[in-house]
Amino acid sequence: MAARRRTAVLISGRGSNMAALIDAAAAPAYPAEIALVLSNRATAGGLENARTAGIATAAVSYKAAGPAAAEAEIAAILEAHGVELVCLAGYMRLLSAGFVARWHDRMINIHPSLLPAFPGLDTHERALAADVKLHGCTVHFVRHEMDTGPIIAQAAVPVLAGDTPERLATRVLAAEHVLYPKALALVASGAVRVVDGHCVLDHPPKEDGRMLLSL
Ligand code: GRF
Repeated sequence: MAARRRTAVLISGRGSNMAALIDAAAAPAYPAEIALVLSNRATAGGLENARTAGIATAAVSYKAAGPAAAEAEIAAILEAHGVELVCLAGYMRLLSAGFVARWHDRMINIHPSLLPAFPGLDTHERALAADVKLHGCTVHFVRHEMDTGPIIAQAAVPVLAGDTPERLATRVLAAEHVLYPKALALVASGAVRVVDGHCVLDHPPKEDGRMLLSL
């Protein structure tokens, strides 16, 4: 079996997507191992859960030193842990162009909408206001502009009569927890590469290799 790719998960809060990635990576055949969980907030609930799972953690405050110094510290920590891939999972800080460039095609993000619809915040409220019939989530390679970059995989969920933002968010979050581990597996196994700004599946997995999940 090829070496598992050493992966860091960057979080700011509860870290339920982080937990889904940790659970998936507990399987020996999974092509990534979660080597580090890092948060910009020392109080993020996800950090405690990662520690309980026996994973190395770090907290880097932007407030004390400012964004440039914080990013330099993050870069050093990632290097010290031999990190090869970065997963953003509810990481609420924008990363600089230089940082994003250094992790080009090695850093992915999950966003709670079917991009390019509804980048930014409050996606579920905005989906309901727009009266869309399908909503969902997207995993994409990170580029400097927020919530842009080649799309690796998406999961769609129906918008149901009587949905509130909270109910819709719950359904989308369940889809996120399925989608993110599948997308990381595609990246970590080398099955997906970026050609002319688009993701191409080189060696589609035999089973469940669809880029679009309908849950
Ligand atoms: C998720 O909805 C994710 O798509 C968005 O932020 C939220 C993080 O939730 N980027 P969690 O911390 O993974 O529970």
